Amino acid sequence: MTNAHSTPAVRPLRSSVSGALTGTLRVPGDKSISHRALMFGAVAMGETTIHGLLEGEDVLNTAAAMRALGAAAACTDGVWRVRGVGLGGLAEPAQVLDMGNSGTAARLLVGLVASHPITTFFTGDGSLVKRPMARVIGPLEKMGASFVSRAGGRLPMAVLGSDKTVPITYRLPVPSAQVKSAVLLCGLNTAGVTTVIESEPTRDHSELMLRHFGATVSVETLEDGALAVSVTGQPELTGRTIHVPADPSSAAFPAVAALLRPDSEVVLTDVGMNPRRTGLYDTLVEMGADIAFENRRDQAGEPVADLRVRGSRLKGVVVPADRAPSMIDEYPILAVAASYAEGTTVMLGLKELRVKESDRLAMVAEGLVRCGVKVEVGADDSLTVHGTGRPPQGGGVIATAMDHRIAMSFLVMGMGSVEPVQVDDSAFIDTSFPGFVGLMNGLGAKIAGV
Ligand code: S3P
Repeated sequence: MTNAHSTPAVRPLRSSVSGALTGTLRVPGDKSISHRALMFGAVAMGETTIHGLLEGEDVLNTAAAMRALGAAAACTDGVWRVRGVGLGGLAEPAQVLDMGNSGTAARLLVGLVASHPITTFFTGDGSLVKRPMARVIGPLEKMGASFVSRAGGRLPMAVLGSDKTVPITYRLPVPSAQVKSAVLLCGLNTAGVTTVIESEPTRDHSELMLRHFGATVSVETLEDGALAVSVTGQPELTGRTIHVPADPSSAAFPAVAALLRPDSEVVLTDVGMNPRRTGLYDTLVEMGADIAFENRRDQAGEPVADLRVRGSRLKGVVVPADRAPSMIDEYPILAVAASYAEGTTVMLGLKELRVKESDRLAMVAEGLVRCGVKVEVGADDSLTVHGTGRPPQGGGVIATAMDHRIAMSFLVMGMGSVEPVQVDDSAFIDTSFPGFVGLMNGLGAKIAGV
């Protein structure tokens, strides 16, 4: 799945009902933080040391891209070392950068190279070439970069960067940390102050980590409640040590699995608890989930905790639209949890789900229907799931559409449903959660090849 020019082998899997889940688990490192650690390390002076980097396909593609842009990035004994080229020092890659399945890698890197006087070609896999890049092209053109893309601002695309970019103030038309980061990263190598205004707060890993590397990033609350995030251009960035927390978006799968299986008790260690990422956990607690957030602490500027999750009876809730940015990747697994809950769960404001690795709103609804769950997709991009308080029927073969989170969510679905659930392809799970099947089976899941 990493290379747009080769077709990965399709790997169907089946998940059958399991007993109680038990055990302690550290899920792999945070994907958002891992991408940023490699990218920022590559434009800092000196060496950046990264502990716990996610070695999923998406992040490995970012590492390869940073090497193609002139930085050194390699792993020895589980520790990644990046030797940066210094801000403004990225070199023109000789080859097209293939970002595989990753929208984050593509959009952030487009922003980073836009303020360098180099031409960079980007492509991606069958999912990524369908996803909108116009959302980053628009503001970056205003800053002085040029683009040649396919119709509708789709990859493959050439970025004609410039060393004469100008700072802008840009109000995000969609709540997107990727777009915010792309503009801030272009601003990083642009003289003056670049500001992004967001009406709904999105994940702030770029802001936190840029500060960690020595940049000046300020955040101001405007009269209308929006946040103005500003970066002062052309700072001296210095290589740092980074400890990547376990990814709360990956921890969501064993956490929900443990909730759904009676008498389970699972501990998930070191999970990132950045408040801009924890919407799923807030929602599960509202639904009646027994989750204890233990040993809360700070790890290199990011809050983390160990989560003790016990089998629970869940009830339906209404999830407000303004919570979406803090749980944008977690709706598929929440929808699975909702199908086991007693009562109706309404998830509002899901428009952005339509432009993820798949049209997640459509794929989740379709998969739930195949498992015998009553659902409605509203014209307002809401999703309503009618839980009965009893395990859903299951039995469906789920189309995963190159989407890792659809695959993992429905494998969790099969752990408690009356009939097993099959996913048509699990290969893309490696983009974000390598080792998923082994780790889940280690807790007591029954996931196997078909
Ligand atoms: C990410 C931001 C989110 C999220 C993605 C990772 C990031 O996308 O869905 O998985 O690392 O900035 P948007 O910002 O486009 O919503």
